[in-house]
Amino acid sequence: MSDNHSNTNEPKLHVEEDEKHLLLDHNYDGIHELDHNLPNWWQFTFYGAIVFSVFYFIFYQFLGGPTLRDEFKKEYSKIEALQAEMKKKSGGFDPELYAKIVADGGVKKGEEVFVANCVACHKEQGIGDIGPNLTDKYWINSKGTPETNYPVVFNGVPENGMPTWAGVISTEEIYQVISYVQTLHNKNLPGKEPQGEAVEDNAATTEGAATDAPQAQ
Ligand code: HEC
Repeated sequence: MSDNHSNTNEPKLHVEEDEKHLLLDHNYDGIHELDHNLPNWWQFTFYGAIVFSVFYFIFYQFLGGPTLRDEFKKEYSKIEALQAEMKKKSGGFDPELYAKIVADGGVKKGEEVFVANCVACHKEQGIGDIGPNLTDKYWINSKGTPETNYPVVFNGVPENGMPTWAGVISTEEIYQVISYVQTLHNKNLPGKEPQGEAVEDNAATTEGAATDAPQAQ
């Protein structure tokens, strides 16, 4: 590559009169360059970025600016608070655990839990007394499904006389007794008059405990 202007194949170069002094003294395959100053906007962003980086560095390295991890933790704690609230509301019903407990003889064990803790108010076979009849299709606090009965038993309805069972019996026993309650559903045994809303379409059979489980999300 020659750096000389006398290449014969080269088309004649046109340079404005007032730009002649800017023309650099080299030639790359016929390409000439004018030595313009960098545009102001370009210099402004370049030097601006340098100045910014100094403050940025000092803030995040020395003045305790939050790390990405800190920012993530802060955002995530909001999600966790929401999740905890949701869990509290639902009593944290876990359909997989429920299915497992049912498969593990939960109904039978649940009957024992029921006899020991619940008959005082719901009577034998849940026909109702102080507490509502659990053998009809009417429900006050739930839809009669395991996932909607669970929070009622877990949290109780203390203001209406249904005790809180969380901490009194184990979580496993709550799941077991729920699965037993499920077997009472729609037996329509004579007992306490219906209370609450009729729930028509929930699959509550004697096997309801097991068949209901996968419906929960
Ligand atoms: C001290 C009395 C009492 C005991 C003991 C009791 N319950 Fe209850 N239960 C109630 C009352 C009263 C209600 C109705 C609450 C209302 O009106 O909101 C109720 C409601 C319920 C409901 C929801 C019924 C509906 O229609 O919303 C379920 C399910 C239930 N109890 C299951 C149980 C189980 C399982 C046990 C034993 C672990 C138990 N209860 C022990 C008094 C009791």
